[in-house]
Amino acid sequence: MPKDTLYTSKTPDAQGRYSYTATEDSTWSHLFKRQMANLQGKADQSFFDGVEKLGLNDDKVPQINNLTQRLNVLSGAGAYGVPAIIPPKQFFTLLSQRQFPVATFLRRPEHIDYIEEPDLFHEVFGHLPMLTDPTFADVIERFGKLALTMPKGCNWHMFRLFWFTVEFGMINTADGLRAIGAGIVSSPAETENAFSGTAQMRPFDLIEVLRTTYRIDIVQPLYFVIDGPKQLLAALTEDLASAVAKAQDLGDYAPLYAPLEG
Ligand code: CO
Repeated sequence: MPKDTLYTSKTPDAQGRYSYTATEDSTWSHLFKRQMANLQGKADQSFFDGVEKLGLNDDKVPQINNLTQRLNVLSGAGAYGVPAIIPPKQFFTLLSQRQFPVATFLRRPEHIDYIEEPDLFHEVFGHLPMLTDPTFADVIERFGKLALTMPKGCNWHMFRLFWFTVEFGMINTADGLRAIGAGIVSSPAETENAFSGTAQMRPFDLIEVLRTTYRIDIVQPLYFVIDGPKQLLAALTEDLASAVAKAQDLGDYAPLYAPLEG
């Protein structure tokens, strides 16, 4: 069965609330407890602060409208329920409005360890804590605004920038390397991989990131490390269209992973 038939989107009620089953609540609880334990000494403190500020806990699946209320106060950001993967233009538009698109379905128990498409646990637990930080919310907004004004043919490069920062970024801290990317903090396998000593760590460099391809279905062989969200914001004030053109001229790096079969 094609995977896109496995999950159906949820529809909110008139108050904007989504309903979740007892099984879904227990899946959330399990995922939350497991990753909070896994991430000790591995996720950046700003992530833990964000979890606390959002009031995330192991009780039950949180409601998007409650999280949006908190985000609004903390950073002017919000979460916006979407069916699943959305078209690039809608994705960039929501980001430009400081709204983070959140898939509202939760993985089934048989997919507890790994799910390729982003589900609510990835979106809420992975992304929203960082968005309590106003500078990080600025990054998302500026990224969306820039992406909407880029010349045609730049989307793949914009996704690389998003991938290696918002999804799989690492950060230098006084205590050592820590994870900030949602794809790391929401996944036990990715957390283990990032701290296994086998993956490459490179300092964030805009052109290098733009020249680096990725696969979405494997743990990452390479992570880029930022010094702080202000560094990302600064990279987004550069002439990004020129940077993409330069990266396109220089060409992609040879991938560090095996090619996709089939
Ligand atoms: Co994500």
